[in-house]
Amino acid sequence: MVEADPPTLRLRGLTVEFDRPGHLGAGVESLRAVHEASLQLRKGEVVGVVGESGSGKSTLGLAAMGLLRAAARVSGTVEIGGVDMSAASEPMWRRRRGSDVGMVFQEPMTALNPVMAVWAQIAEPLREHRGMSRASARRRAVELLAEVGIREPERVARMYPHQLSGGMRQRVGIAMAIGCEPALLIADEPTTALDVSVQAQILELLVALVGRMGLSLLLISHNLGVIAETTDRVVVMYRGCVVESGATREVVSAPAHPYTRGLLDCVLSLDRPRDEPLHPIPGSVTPLAGAPRACPFAERCARVGDVCLTGLPELRGGAHACACVDPIAGRARASGGGRHG
Ligand SMILES: Nc1ncnc2c1ncn2[C@@H]1O[C@H](COP(=O)(O)OP(=O)(O)O)[C@@H](O)[C@H]1O
Ligand SMILES: [Mg+2]
Repeated sequence: MVEADPPTLRLRGLTVEFDRPGHLGAGVESLRAVHEASLQLRKGEVVGVVGESGSGKSTLGLAAMGLLRAAARVSGTVEIGGVDMSAASEPMWRRRRGSDVGMVFQEPMTALNPVMAVWAQIAEPLREHRGMSRASARRRAVELLAEVGIREPERVARMYPHQLSGGMRQRVGIAMAIGCEPALLIADEPTTALDVSVQAQILELLVALVGRMGLSLLLISHNLGVIAETTDRVVVMYRGCVVESGATREVVSAPAHPYTRGLLDCVLSLDRPRDEPLHPIPGSVTPLAGAPRACPFAERCARVGDVCLTGLPELRGGAHACACVDPIAGRARASGGGRHG
């Protein structure tokens, strides 16, 4: 069969619900953290997922790794490399997670064992999934440290996580994630815990690895600045719903959804008229209690009208899609002026 490679990751109608104690402790209520999210990643692509804290980004990433099957109700499909994993058993998922999908976390210590030397942790998946001997896994671990930009990899290999800086720890986390040469890497806020100067280096490393290893990267971040600099395409989430998606350059230069526009105004406050600013809600975004019956952004939207309260707007528009009944016209696209002109 002659066909293009299947997407490395494809989510279709992914919905995730958690149970939480009901109001005043009565019964159980369900909280919909992700509502019918769809996205796909092709080989060599960097796709971003962006939205404020509480938008469902991590839940989406964890569900894509099959990590929420016991903790939540998950529906829709997760396909990895063209294989539908929706009905896969736990051992099948474990094999995939170890070798085909790598994960990088916000806090590298989540993935690292504090009482294990660096080399041994990188070697572990190599031994388990690649059947390498202890000696060759150790050699490969040192090579991987060099590949993620660690100088003196031999010396660092013998160190323990607490002896490393945050940036080095994240490099070790990345070395662990790419050891088995996965086709897909999911990085959830990989730079959020790091100093600004180190953030850029880690992002540069991730993008370089995509080019060098031909993998696909799903980059999750609350920071649209990070996403704008790093990704090819972007999915914007708010309260579990995908509100806009498209080529990052287009979405950033001509955002169609008022929420995306608000996120952008928070990042680039210099050259934009701030007529519709997004007022940040202190604390977290309120999650949906079930299927949305209105636009999830209606309560914060400056352009809200009666029609926004009658149902969830459909995600329309093909390559640059937006779920809004009154999307913002492409000002940046039409004017041709501005700072990129
Ligand atoms: N294990 C869980 N149990 C109950 N609720 C959860 C759980 N994980 C996440 N949530 C809720 O789901 C919503 C989305 O959270 P999350 O995916 O962490 O958002 P983000 O990563 O965008 O900040 C939040 O309201 C959060 O409280
Ligand atoms: Mg998160």
